[in-house]
Amino acid sequence: MKNIEITTTATIFKGISELASEDKMLMEQAIVAREKAYAPYSKFSVGAALLLENGEIILGNNQENAAYPSGMCAERVAIWNAGARFPEVKIIRLAISAKSENSIVDTPVGPCGACRQSLSEYEFKQQQPFEILFMGEVGEVVKVPSLQSLLPFSFDNSYL
Ligand code: THU
Repeated sequence: MKNIEITTTATIFKGISELASEDKMLMEQAIVAREKAYAPYSKFSVGAALLLENGEIILGNNQENAAYPSGMCAERVAIWNAGARFPEVKIIRLAISAKSENSIVDTPVGPCGACRQSLSEYEFKQQQPFEILFMGEVGEVVKVPSLQSLLPFSFDNSYL
């Protein structure tokens, strides 16, 4: 038997203004996407912006449904859109922003577990990590260098 320790790497920024200009620009796009979310049930809007290697920016936002489980998160809307339109182009970076109609979200909102798994598929596919930045409506921004920082022991197609 042995115990191992898994460490994760993240950089915490005080706010969007502390970000490097290319990161700030992508987060601003995530905010633009967030404002168009369809979230009438949860009142919790999420926006995602993906920067691709060819310079394209792909946006996504959560799309809810009266049959609740039929809705979809912003991150998966964005990553599947990128996969559908630019299947061979690598992803460089993902920015995520969340806002609630019920309260001010002032802590960073990371992607849910199902989104982490979906995002991880594309990192594995491209054999190159991509960065993830996430925040609430205001306040700190978390930046991680790879999906692996958010999803250790992940499942991928090497097991199949
Ligand atoms: N949501 C996302 O869009 N991304 C996440 O990673 C977490 C949750 C959405 C789903 C639902 O429309 C709303 O936020 C509340 O859970």
